[in-house]
Amino acid sequence: PLPPAYQVPLPVPRVLSGADRYDIVQREVTAEILPGVTTRLWTYGGSFPGPTIESRRGQPITVAHRNELPVPSVVHLHGGRTPPASDGYPTDLVVPAGWNDMGHGMHDPRAVTSTVTRTYTYPLDQRPTLLWYHDHRMDFTAPAVWRGLAGMQVVRDDAEEALGLPSGAYELPLMIADRAFAADGSLDYPSIDPTLMMQPGVKEPYIAGVLGDVVLVNGAPWPVREVDTVRYRLRILNASNARHYDLEAVLDDGRRLDLVQIGADQGLLHTPVTHRNLPIAPAERYDVILDFGRVPVGSMVRIVNRLGSGRTRDVLAFHVVRKSADPSRIPDVLSDDLPEWKRSDAVRVRDFSFRAGQMGDGHGWLIGGRPFAPDRTDVTTRLGDVEIWRLVADVHHPVHLHLAGFRILSRDGGDPLPHDAGLKDTVSLRPGESAELITRFDGYRGRYLFHCHNAEHEDMGMMANLEIT
Ligand code: C2O
Ligand code: CU
Repeated sequence: PLPPAYQVPLPVPRVLSGADRYDIVQREVTAEILPGVTTRLWTYGGSFPGPTIESRRGQPITVAHRNELPVPSVVHLHGGRTPPASDGYPTDLVVPAGWNDMGHGMHDPRAVTSTVTRTYTYPLDQRPTLLWYHDHRMDFTAPAVWRGLAGMQVVRDDAEEALGLPSGAYELPLMIADRAFAADGSLDYPSIDPTLMMQPGVKEPYIAGVLGDVVLVNGAPWPVREVDTVRYRLRILNASNARHYDLEAVLDDGRRLDLVQIGADQGLLHTPVTHRNLPIAPAERYDVILDFGRVPVGSMVRIVNRLGSGRTRDVLAFHVVRKSADPSRIPDVLSDDLPEWKRSDAVRVRDFSFRAGQMGDGHGWLIGGRPFAPDRTDVTTRLGDVEIWRLVADVHHPVHLHLAGFRILSRDGGDPLPHDAGLKDTVSLRPGESAELITRFDGYRGRYLFHCHNAEHEDMGMMANLEIT
């Protein structure tokens, strides 16, 4: 019973702000996502997406997560500059309340540490941007995120607020995530092991990644938002497991509105970049201004996915309903603090392949020919070192690095693409493509991860350990 597009109002997740400690209970709830049927979700605090945490740069917060789900969990703040003990290493479990040492996975031999309530510390000493928190448990990240374990976190500072960008009701977080539903309303996910405890991964033909035929934005199918004739700041996150989007804004008469990009994964660009369409891979974020100033009242502006077909072409729509004076401005220079590492700054160059391969006796996804092993250090670097990483892919792989933001130096030996501007933490490698990144390992010593953020690839081996010494 799929609803028609652009009928359901866009939900905006509730906001947690103003405190230095938050308590989140991870629990199962029932929600009506599709009309007339109910869906069991795994949530942060009772909703999908979870609450949006509003933070200030350099003001540390702690978030205590209690697990009332039927399986262990792990929380990772994606894009956060976070000390290793709070980074959500895949075996640092939060164990379900009520499990005891007898019989259950408290004794999962892979668990490095486990606890019923885990308190994560986030210093947030980093450029303002849109982060997201999501499950990261060893082998079972994809099905847990699919069931709803995802939320957003915004970091702000005075400098960004002084720019006069659209704010308040004119700033919208947009978590885009496709899902598939069974006829009874339950989420449909092709796990090999539906208990999500023993055997990871998905069955054929889902090895390349699980796609849904329903596009949710902030948890609602193909929603619509009423807007004024002003600029809006859209904080776009692709929280899909595997689906790529190439977004464009289309008016009733077929004309397109420009998407003015002001920020990337790790905060504001130096200057805005104007796009006609904007590709966004899983885990990427784009900070975009959409100007409804010249759109006639009464029109619809549809955000569509050029890579979709049929129902997956639709994403969300804006219904322009009110004339209003625009209080915002888009300065020519947005930020001056982007790191400008030069090739000559790099003390080493590393090569990594991201390719399909054999894992055990099944299909896997490998980095440098090897599947993930939690006890093997794949890369050792020193705090403060600048490195160039050369990545090469067989099929599409959105590669994500924990802790350190990077710049994209090249693609296939040529210039980066227009949307590669700014500081990134996820690079979308296209089929057969190579790319060069440059980064500085800065912040904390300890063990971190890099991995493919196609969540199915990640669960099926495409992850590696990075030790900063
Ligand atoms: Cu968004 Cu290692 O994750
Ligand atoms: Cu991948």
